[in-house]
Amino acid sequence: MRKEILFSREMIAKRVQEVARRISADYTGRELIVIGILKGSFIFMADLIRAMNIPCRVDFARAASYGAGQESAGRVIMTKDIETSIKGKDILVVEDIVDTGTTLSYLVEWLKERSPQSLKVCAFLDKRKRRKVAFEADYVCFTIEDGFVVGYGLDFNEQARFLPEVYVLEKQ
Ligand code: PRP
Repeated sequence: MRKEILFSREMIAKRVQEVARRISADYTGRELIVIGILKGSFIFMADLIRAMNIPCRVDFARAASYGAGQESAGRVIMTKDIETSIKGKDILVVEDIVDTGTTLSYLVEWLKERSPQSLKVCAFLDKRKRRKVAFEADYVCFTIEDGFVVGYGLDFNEQARFLPEVYVLEKQ
């Protein structure tokens, strides 16, 4: 499948630095637990926490939305739980993309049941056109209208996560 570059390494690095600086300022003096949602977030999260100048602890959960290919199926199942108690803690959930909003709106409620002190969401990409569930991330690196994007953790049928840039797949 043909692809076209959307965000270069330099654009990504610059924007991740900016967002990391904002998060660091917002959480100065607090103890942050960063929760990455597997698999897509792992590259973004690694860059983000290294660009922050506050200490943090990390954990991971995995949310699977069922169906292969380019559509998320609208049904979320948690296939890996976090291993940290988040009660009374400040939590930052890190995701690669908000698309229909289904995954994150489910996930946030799922985590809130454990009574964290605060819970915010940082998404690398916010894809707005296909939103089905009203959901706004607190921190966003890039907003895009539509298009299927890969690279920097994002996959197409498990391929292309390793690419250091973000590409948009061209329709055949
Ligand atoms: C992707 C992405 C989000 C979700 C966003 O996950 O990482 O979790 O879809 O889509 P939504 O807003 O429509 O719910 P995916 O299920 O593809 O898993 P992955 O992170 O392992 O690639």
